[in-house]
Amino acid sequence: MANYGENEAQGKFWNDAPGQSWVKHDAVMNLRLGNISDILFNRLGDVVVANVLDIGCGTGSTSIRLAETLAQEATVTGIDISEPMLGKAREKSANLPSVSFVAADAQAFAFETGKFDAVISRFGVMFFEDPPKAFSNIRSAMKPGSQLTFVCWAPLEENEFFSLPLQTVLDFVPSEYEFVANAPGPLAFSNKEYLMGILQSSGFSNCDIEVVKTTVDTTDTPEEDAAVLMQIGFGARAVREAELDQKRMDDLYQLFLETSRSRQSDGVIKYGATIYVVTANA
Ligand SMILES: C[S@@+](CC[C@H](N)C(=O)[O-])C[C@H]1O[C@@H](n2cnc3c(N)ncnc32)[C@H](O)[C@@H]1O
Repeated sequence: MANYGENEAQGKFWNDAPGQSWVKHDAVMNLRLGNISDILFNRLGDVVVANVLDIGCGTGSTSIRLAETLAQEATVTGIDISEPMLGKAREKSANLPSVSFVAADAQAFAFETGKFDAVISRFGVMFFEDPPKAFSNIRSAMKPGSQLTFVCWAPLEENEFFSLPLQTVLDFVPSEYEFVANAPGPLAFSNKEYLMGILQSSGFSNCDIEVVKTTVDTTDTPEEDAAVLMQIGFGARAVREAELDQKRMDDLYQLFLETSRSRQSDGVIKYGATIYVVTANA
């Protein structure tokens, strides 16, 4: 694995089991995040763009959607710190010459100054050790006045996809869950004032944070849903930390299964979600 400097811990995390779980569940995760992708893409509007950058692009689903949406001469560059996730992204985009991927830390990567006409991200910008440094670096890669558009998660209690699995683990293995405010992770930007401060101190203007309520949905069976939630998200983090033996893992799976069943109606499992849709100009 490459050396990810200040973001070494996140580099290790995303190249290890969590990144591999995303690869394994790539298709189902992209479907679950379908409503949120639509919200993100609607917000891009009909801006005519040539070169777009997708930050923390992971397995490349949004990069590929961008390439399919934009004019033929447009290019899409995805940057990510996770080699396994980029491996999947490259495999999926093999027939799309306008899409390319860079394995690097977006906080430190030496982007070509002023190259991009737009920058997007679906949940890929909350993991930086030094967010003002990262956002200043991203801004330097953008044409002056061009738009940054990304989505990130609102607080835990407004996101059942995270809170229900986490509570299931905490009930099973009683332990204190300590939320470290603003620390790198899915909820790093759940405090709007903190996020606004980062954008402004990184030199962005016209910064806007819109709160949008939506759902994370799946037509997976409860068995499939429970298996995904034990491997991805806040519940999964708590499962890994609990280091349970196989018998206890099987018992815990049954509890996840109960939750998944309780959320299913007419063949669809739904979790309430709240996101921030963030726009800002370089
Ligand atoms: C929650 S995943 C989202 C992936 C993808 N955007 C999606 O929606 O499917 C977060 C992504 O951010 C990437 N990431 C974390 N820190 C990063 C960094 N410093 N530079 C680039 N990518 C990073 C991770 O490897 C991971 O792919």
